[in-house]
Amino acid sequence: MSYPYQIKSLDQYHEVYKQSVENPEQFWAEVAATFRWKKPFDKVLEWNFKEPNIEWFGGGQLNITENCLDRWAESQPDTPAIIWESNDPAEAGRTLTYKELLAKVNQFAHVLKNNGAKKGDRICIYMPMVPELAIAVLACARIGAIHSVIFGGFSAQSIADRINDASCNIVITADGGYRGNKQIPLKAVMDEALIQCDTVQKVIVLNRTNTPVSMLKDKEVWWEEEILKVEHAGNPFFEAEPMESEDELFILYTSGSTGKPKGVVHTCAGYMVYTNYTFVNVFQYQPGDIHFCTADIGWITGHSYIIYGPLSAGATTLMFEGIPTWPDAGRFWEIIDKYHVNILYTAPTAIRSLMSFGLDVLKDKDLSSLKVLGTVGEPINEEAWNWYHYHIGKGNCPIVDTWWQTETGGILISNLAGVTPQKAAYATLPLPGIQPLLVDENGHIIAGSNAASGELPAETVSGNLCIQFPWPGMIRTTYGDHERCRQTYFSTYQDLDFTGDGCFRDQAGNYRITGRVDDVLNISGHRIGTAEVENAINMHTGVVESAIVGYPHDIKGQGIYAFIIYQGETLDNDSIAHDINQTITRLIGAIAKADKIQFVSGLPKTRSGKIMRRILRKIAEGETENLGDTSTLLDPAVVDEIKNGRR
Ligand code: PRX
Repeated sequence: MSYPYQIKSLDQYHEVYKQSVENPEQFWAEVAATFRWKKPFDKVLEWNFKEPNIEWFGGGQLNITENCLDRWAESQPDTPAIIWESNDPAEAGRTLTYKELLAKVNQFAHVLKNNGAKKGDRICIYMPMVPELAIAVLACARIGAIHSVIFGGFSAQSIADRINDASCNIVITADGGYRGNKQIPLKAVMDEALIQCDTVQKVIVLNRTNTPVSMLKDKEVWWEEEILKVEHAGNPFFEAEPMESEDELFILYTSGSTGKPKGVVHTCAGYMVYTNYTFVNVFQYQPGDIHFCTADIGWITGHSYIIYGPLSAGATTLMFEGIPTWPDAGRFWEIIDKYHVNILYTAPTAIRSLMSFGLDVLKDKDLSSLKVLGTVGEPINEEAWNWYHYHIGKGNCPIVDTWWQTETGGILISNLAGVTPQKAAYATLPLPGIQPLLVDENGHIIAGSNAASGELPAETVSGNLCIQFPWPGMIRTTYGDHERCRQTYFSTYQDLDFTGDGCFRDQAGNYRITGRVDDVLNISGHRIGTAEVENAINMHTGVVESAIVGYPHDIKGQGIYAFIIYQGETLDNDSIAHDINQTITRLIGAIAKADKIQFVSGLPKTRSGKIMRRILRKIAEGETENLGDTSTLLDPAVVDEIKNGRR
């Protein structure tokens, strides 16, 4: 196996980048030609950002699983595809070679068909981090069904909203899952969700925890029993469904600035080409390397860099069921030592959390196999970057700071490990094919901010980060609501895709992402919409109104600060605050719990009734002096009260 498009030097990067922006179609056509097509594409790109309409590799037919499985099962059948490490260090891990993984995906593709699944169906997957989760995802892709994976930490209500939004007809889940010393009753949560879901006809349940579960006759079936039926039928091969390039591959829900999560849609060919290209280049993967991405498959990072990127490159991907701090804070380091991991890809929040446990847990761990380190999900502070660099990478491993989003499908801005320069806290340079630029509030392009123009700024500039040209992995629509996609990303600035992030660009052309400029928070690298949390809080009995802002948090990056107007007795504020957090957990999930709750008698509002979040944000950050102009407020006195009651 070799990767003809893997960039090997800084000069080559500059050359390839130039070609990719001068002739993007030729550039991507050459990358795409290295994949297995059932029918070659005849039109590389058609696009406009107005509607938007984005079509890559038109006329082509393929199945992503043939690219992730069959071609490697033929050329390197015994190479490990997935190495799985259990939550429990005492439980044996599992390794699935490419040949074995293909066989299991074929089996489960039959199970899906036997249970009525068809091409184009939406299938909800709510599972723990076990190999069967990857198998379920790939089996959906093999039969041409659209998977919608929901992170195991989401509540019944969130699951129901997502299943209903996509009208899923099949659900794949498990009796339960292990996370550290906790057991998550996945099936019971799903049962509660399904009370609200009329479209679901079949539920396939994996036995992971031996938890007693309710199983409804005809509708709910055990994974293991269904597999036995396929085995009895002689385990026939499953011919991968031919898919058009632009057929939908999956939906993944993410938070936006309104209360309702958006179903980000990715399509077959472009997503495959892009995750593969970025995986091979950013991490500089070499055959035989073991790649350990610590994300959950319920998030985009898991989709792109545990499953599709690595497998489409014939790589070995390590999947870990547990959490970094259980049984102790040395778990990641133990796994690296045990499997001789070469590439570690994790989130700044995990690094900060592990830093806080000190260096003792590192003492007896051999981390010398590591070659490349990566981070994703939020800006990384220099302290965490340095700790990662010196204590984990021993000063020898390049760190790739990868900036991207659920909507971008794969990494857009990052250094290439050991090939292009790294700079602490900077995502640095755009990948080939990516044309970022910065705009000011009025939509004017900031001089020297446009990478594709080749110009550099005279001094560091800042603005809102936009992308001016499509790339294969980009969002195609928001499921069932194309207008929302247009409005959210393509209407703020004309002919530009607006990312929602603020950004700097230095004189050397490096980009540094500073964080969201909209009402979206980034809590431990997870996106949470303020409106979503406010809606949940407002459902709590006694709550009149609420406003959520982010504030700097040592471990999570950002914490949630809630200002709440509560009607009635607040004699025991702490206990009401706990109850409110219970409601958030029930309606969204524990990840959206407020870190601080302050009860207030009013919120700072303009005369037109708009909450002045700028003021609340400053107070939450501890700034009580320079709150800016408060004269336009309906009731300026409320600001003093809020300042005085700060938590
Ligand atoms: O604000 C940026 C931040 O995470 C957001 C995307 O979140 P999500 O769609 O959940 O995807 C996370 C994993 C790709 C972005 O808008 N973000 C992501 N990576 C970085 C980052 N901020 C700074 N530096 C990064 N490397």
